[in-house]
Amino acid sequence: MIYQVYPRSFADGNGDGIGDIAGIRARLDHLAALGVDAIWFSPWYPSPMADAGYDVADYRDIDPVFGTLGEAEALIAEAHALGIRIIVDVVPNHCSDAHPWFQAALAGGPGAPERDLFWFRPGRGPNGDQPPTDWVGEFGGPTWTRTTDPDGSPGDWYLHLFTAQQPDFNWDHPRVRAEFEDVLRFWFDRGVDGIRIDSAGLLVKDGTLPETLPDRPHPFRDLDGVHEIYRAWRRLADGYPGDRALIGEVWMPDRQRFANYLRPDELHAAFNFDFLGCAWDTSALRECIDGTLSAHAPVAAPATWVLSNHDVTRHVTRYGRADTTFSFAAKREGIPTDLELGTRRARAAALLSLSLPGAVYVYQGEELGLYEVEDIPYALRQDPMWERSGRVDPGRDGCRVPLPWAGDEPPFGFSPDGAVAAPWLPQPADWKDRTAQAQTGDPNSMLELYRSAIRVRRADPALGDGDFGWLPAPDGVLAFRRGAGFRCVVNLADAPVPLPADGEPLLASGPLDDGLLPPDTAVWLRSVDPADASH
Ligand code: NOJ
Ligand code: CA
Repeated sequence: MIYQVYPRSFADGNGDGIGDIAGIRARLDHLAALGVDAIWFSPWYPSPMADAGYDVADYRDIDPVFGTLGEAEALIAEAHALGIRIIVDVVPNHCSDAHPWFQAALAGGPGAPERDLFWFRPGRGPNGDQPPTDWVGEFGGPTWTRTTDPDGSPGDWYLHLFTAQQPDFNWDHPRVRAEFEDVLRFWFDRGVDGIRIDSAGLLVKDGTLPETLPDRPHPFRDLDGVHEIYRAWRRLADGYPGDRALIGEVWMPDRQRFANYLRPDELHAAFNFDFLGCAWDTSALRECIDGTLSAHAPVAAPATWVLSNHDVTRHVTRYGRADTTFSFAAKREGIPTDLELGTRRARAAALLSLSLPGAVYVYQGEELGLYEVEDIPYALRQDPMWERSGRVDPGRDGCRVPLPWAGDEPPFGFSPDGAVAAPWLPQPADWKDRTAQAQTGDPNSMLELYRSAIRVRRADPALGDGDFGWLPAPDGVLAFRRGAGFRCVVNLADAPVPLPADGEPLLASGPLDDGLLPPDTAVWLRSVDPADASH
């Protein structure tokens, strides 16, 4: 199980209201007790934070708000001593506009060779005042920003698929390729075990800059040339001792195209956003699980199971809504949700995902049952998605609220006692019941459910990779086996269903009702006689 730490919001060691490496080091015991195999850190590099650190100004250092490179090295060593591996986030599609390469490109003026490392182009129209293309950015809004020449006159435009503070690199340029291979080496040399690759499918662009048209190849998504980059990265990773993993952020509805990133000489794994976006519905989930497993089989890569991350509405909130799917396009303010229902389903989903074949990613706070904070005052919202969407999309701040650790009122132990600043986003008062401390030792808590489930998963060789098969089940119920003796049954129907008679419940996501499995509840069972489990 790989646990995602979003450093701004995990734990604040120095009391400035922003999470940092000192805070993470002080809370490593929480992650060890949870049973995590690896931690993925969202970006911690020097950054003006126009996109919460996904705008990187220096790929080989740590932002002072998070600490120092020395502290990061100490954290890596301490995690390794606990048997926990480390994954860092590398952002190769774009950098920050404060990055020295981009500053040099701006200063060099039109035609400067430094501009070849990015996408600078003259504008269209008689005065060059229209952007080179009409592409729509990944956060909505325009993808080109006009520069001002050193003499003060309007100049060329540069491409940014995200915010204007995130200029896209030109991956056709050998210096960009060499630079990122060196960045990978920098972190591998510091003992890092894996790289999470941001926006992995966007790096290569069609240099003729065609418009995006329905029946034409897309100018920047999933171009074939991207695979050569990952083949080179794989050779580099394979050259290091031990296992060094490459994990792609690949949003790709086409499962075949998705699996191309996982060929044996490319990435080791990629996030399964299909599962994340899937409705809480038996046939949709079954189709997703089958489709996922059959797409991964030919490339022999492990499937991944992801319910939440720092970009999406927390699944406790999603699962309590009438429409339980996730898509960026559908994000709106004020969609009603039933958090009790969402929590029940999230508990069942935890047992479901932790017993499917492959790797599970847990986003910080998911193990505490945190919900999306949907009432952050407008003035405090920081995510650029909110403004760039014309305030249609509420943005991603609601899943990034600092974690509650202990105590009855904010900052709930996120910052030390006597901290000078409040947490960078306000925490809901009722998180007092969801702190790690309040949940520890409570057998009905989300935290203890995750701890128990991960303990069982780590101890049972039938879980994780390997053998999987569906079992017959009534409508609205998912039932499958792992190996001969282990079973998972999830009831998504409206009424209770009988539990299999020949299994011993190991762990359930909610109270079992006298031999019945209630709605929105999952159970793990061990066959009394393993021979029975195959039929
Ligand atoms: C994906 C990251 O997960 C997201 O947080 C970020 O805004 C974009 N890539 C741009 O780097
Ligand atoms: Ca801090």
